[in-house]
Amino acid sequence: MSNFYKKILDNNKQWVESQLALDPDYFNDLSKGQNPPLLWIGCSDSRVPANEIIGAKPGEVFVHRNIANLVIHTDMNMLSVLDYAVNALKVKHIIVCGHYGCGGVKAAMGNESIGIIDNWIRHIKDLFRIHQEELLSIDDEEKRFNKLVELNVVEQVYDLAKTSIVQNAWKIGQELSLHGWVYGLNSGYVTDLDVNFSCNKDLDEVFKLNI
Ligand code: CO
Repeated sequence: MSNFYKKILDNNKQWVESQLALDPDYFNDLSKGQNPPLLWIGCSDSRVPANEIIGAKPGEVFVHRNIANLVIHTDMNMLSVLDYAVNALKVKHIIVCGHYGCGGVKAAMGNESIGIIDNWIRHIKDLFRIHQEELLSIDDEEKRFNKLVELNVVEQVYDLAKTSIVQNAWKIGQELSLHGWVYGLNSGYVTDLDVNFSCNKDLDEVFKLNI
């Protein structure tokens, strides 16, 4: 057995012991149910662990992660997580958190074929095309990359707002705010991109649903 594999099993035992030392009812209490106020939609990147970077405990964040933190409205996985988070758990906030240095976004800017993922990050290539003029006007490659990371987060927040699930929640007066963040791998800090929705009035007319 590899050292790493053995280590993570040992880590688990130590973690259980340390939690129980602090609170003997810790796991009993958690097993009774969850009531997280937040749904986190982030990148699968191993360096952006949702709970750790916001100091959240087990029970506080419902999490969905995929490559490049995309909100694709035909993705049954994302829609199921979103539906459960909004309609069953009644989360009050949804954060889409991208990160600088995102490999998925980087790959989408290039021409190399990587495999099935080519089709997933095609969504980011579409976004690149929409913002082509702005992006190509940035000479510095790193800055252009950062800009696309940010534009991608903003786009995903809009795409969340366009879903029937989110618009329905607003229609019935449920408290639900959407936010877009970018995490800095080299600083540890998140930046709030100030793209906030709590109703559908800022959506283009064609996306507004009469639910
Ligand atoms: Co990433």
